[in-house]
Amino acid sequence: MDSRDVRVGMVGYAFMGAAHSQAWRTVNRVFDLPVRARMVAVCGRDPAGVSAAALRLGWEESGTDWRALVARDDIDLVDICTPGDSHAEIAIAALAAGKHVLCEKPLANTVDEARTMVAAAETARRSGVRAMCGYNYRRVPAVALMRELVAAGRVGEIRHVRAVYLQDWIVDPQFPLVWRLRKEVAGSGALGDIGAHIVDLTQYVTGQRITGVSGLTETFVKSRPLPNGSHGLSAAATGAVTGQVTVDDAAVFVARLSGGAVATYEATRFATGRKNGLRVEINGSTGSLAFDLERLNELEFYDATRPGAEQGFSRILVTEPDHPYLDAWWPPGHLIGYEHSFTHEMRDLLEAIASGSDPQPSFEDGLGVQLVLDAVERSAAAGGTWTPVPSVPAPLPA
Ligand SMILES: NC(=O)c1ccc[n+]([C@@H]2O[C@H](COP(=O)([O-])OP(=O)(O)OC[C@H]3O[C@@H](n4cnc5c(N)ncnc54)[C@H](O)[C@@H]3O)[C@@H](O)[C@H]2O)c1
Repeated sequence: MDSRDVRVGMVGYAFMGAAHSQAWRTVNRVFDLPVRARMVAVCGRDPAGVSAAALRLGWEESGTDWRALVARDDIDLVDICTPGDSHAEIAIAALAAGKHVLCEKPLANTVDEARTMVAAAETARRSGVRAMCGYNYRRVPAVALMRELVAAGRVGEIRHVRAVYLQDWIVDPQFPLVWRLRKEVAGSGALGDIGAHIVDLTQYVTGQRITGVSGLTETFVKSRPLPNGSHGLSAAATGAVTGQVTVDDAAVFVARLSGGAVATYEATRFATGRKNGLRVEINGSTGSLAFDLERLNELEFYDATRPGAEQGFSRILVTEPDHPYLDAWWPPGHLIGYEHSFTHEMRDLLEAIASGSDPQPSFEDGLGVQLVLDAVERSAAAGGTWTPVPSVPAPLPA
């Protein structure tokens, strides 16, 4: 082994497992980094499935016991790509074993789990062990640019934040009861799955936190056919046997941000025709910014300080070498896509490990999102009552 190697073990090998594998394979071929990811082992539950996945995705070995993976001496980093019900247990065990951890979002299924994960990350940090939560949309270059422009004061004081995350993959009532529709596995529905992304993204871009919410949630289809096996976003139904949907299909909430802005959020899996419609608009005292994930190479910018005759939204094609992350990719105008956000995530994590600094989003950031989700659920259960969101204490220095 080369001392510059970061030996990765990944748990879960389906949707996010494939996206993360793609990123681990690519990151050192694109970015010049002081350390190098080595894809040592992938872990799943089905021996044949995980062994085939290892071959297809580029892992040296496969196994079916994540505890054995976490205990291995030849693993430096554990990458958690499983549903939320196993995040806390795997992350805490990995951190206790001295492994760096990358954990998919949402950090956990409950605030209590997220708090125990933060405590484990704080303890591990004292020995130089790093923990990161996988809110990958922060790493879309246009989103990172949006944050830079806000931080540089280019839109002035933020008055409005408007965020939606719209999907439609369960509009059909015959779509089966996959794990994302079961509270004990997923924690919540559209709220924690996609609402979590817009909560993190808006807090990241504005540099402000959500201080209070009033929300409502709805489950439109209350029972569904049981699925044939365990699947993520798609599965074949088995027929007449049905089960209860125990999560929200849609969540809508208004919020206040710590800097004085008012905000609206909508997360739904019932926006017929919308496939992965994450859109965020920010209106400030001197300008506005708008981002749409389905046009992820672009950022709309309205600069109200320009002469009246020149005003209007401009479309920035975020592919220039001086845009975030893009100096390592293609010539200007040659577009990038969804998967690149994960490559950027791995780049930032490897750089943090090499430099001995804390990667972002931290587990504290993940807990911050969890507290918002929890407040929305409590508000919705109380008929939309205004519900303050507690703040997360700043982490101790590494
Ligand atoms: N960052 C993003 O944009 C994004 C997108 C999709 C999903 N996610 C998150 O990634 C996580 C996984 O979602 P997914 O879409 O990849 O799900 P998936 O159903 O496609 O894959 C889950 C994988 O975990 C494995 N698994 C489940 N329980 C396990 C256990 N106890 N031990 C070992 N393996 C286990 C499954 O066999 C499967 O390989 C979730 O937390 C989800 O919210 C993030």
